[in-house]
Amino acid sequence: QEGDAEAGATVFKKCAICHIVDSDTNKVGPSLNHVLGRTAGTHPDFKYSPAMIDAGKGGLIWDEATLRDYLHNPKAKVKGTKMVFPGLKDEGDISNLLAYLKQYSQ
Ligand code: HEM
Repeated sequence: QEGDAEAGATVFKKCAICHIVDSDTNKVGPSLNHVLGRTAGTHPDFKYSPAMIDAGKGGLIWDEATLRDYLHNPKAKVKGTKMVFPGLKDEGDISNLLAYLKQYSQ
């Protein structure tokens, strides 16, 4: 089921306290501009946790499947991540959010 990017913009409000999506600026979290296709832990000028850097070195690339897992339960997908966010429990919310993030990954 394809997500609804407009609904995803509303879900993204939960992320926007820490993440910007429409520019390369880092906040508490790394910019999520062009996150689809990115190797984990590689956005310039952001101080990632060792866990996130290791995940990227281990081959973790953010695509729809890996983002879905991470957003469902960040600390299960990347043990030791410093992202303090409990995760999204509603798969529909995640689908909508992915459609939104995709718009900024073209
Ligand atoms: C990392 C997405 C909420 C803080 C990340 C990464 C993604 C992501 C994809 C990895 C990026 C990369 O490898 O370059 C999201 C989404 C959120 C959300 C979609 C909302 C659903 C939050 C919130 C905070 C936060 C609310 C702050 C309280 C961080 C931090 C990192 C991170 C600090 C770096 C983690 C590390 O180095 O281990 N986020 N995030 N995020 N996020 Fe979030």
